Amino acid sequence: MSSSEISGVREPQPDPLKEYRFSEDAIAEMEEIATHYPERKAACLPTLWIAQREYGGYLTPPAIQEVADRLGLSFSEVEGVATFYTMYNLRKRGRHHLEVCTCLTCAVLGAYDIVHKLEHELGIHLGGTTSDGEFTLSEAECLDFCGAATVMQVGDKYFTQLTENNVMELIDQLRGSPDYTPAKLADAIVKIHVPLSSQTGGGSSKPEDLLLPAGPML
Ligand code: FES
Repeated sequence: MSSSEISGVREPQPDPLKEYRFSEDAIAEMEEIATHYPERKAACLPTLWIAQREYGGYLTPPAIQEVADRLGLSFSEVEGVATFYTMYNLRKRGRHHLEVCTCLTCAVLGAYDIVHKLEHELGIHLGGTTSDGEFTLSEAECLDFCGAATVMQVGDKYFTQLTENNVMELIDQLRGSPDYTPAKLADAIVKIHVPLSSQTGGGSSKPEDLLLPAGPML
């Protein structure tokens, strides 16, 4: 019996094996992005987007740890960044994250009617996720498409000119769609940071293709 066991003091334990999830393509993207900054630590924001994609649309503690390890930062430094910006998901979202803009123009044109319709039809409140994991409902600040209000962001697309009368048609079509997920949003944002010549994965090849309004319906 060791002296530490006799005294009740637990000796330092080795860290558990880390299971990094960044693919080779993701690492290549991160290394490319890191060259855009004077020091790699400054690539924290885009690397968190890579992590959000690689970890299925949200940042788990291991995801934050992987970003920290790959950039030479501490866990708390990366966690501080990830918790500061609301666009990073710190918990799992539905397969489709419905973010309804409720800022002035959209609010005047019925954003809260849409929110209340969705709450009633989906059986959830703002911030909630349906029991089947399909939808999470949130409010969003101005999405910068005020001229096409009311606007809702779903993953990597904006849907415009929504009303309480047409929004459920969109919801029905989203149920059958594999697109517009939190992971695809993360991928779209990563692609904006990576020059066209070095893109490694799928997704849009042109920044101008991203985040454009798709109209009221799919
Ligand atoms: S107020 Fe809704 S997009 Fe600007």
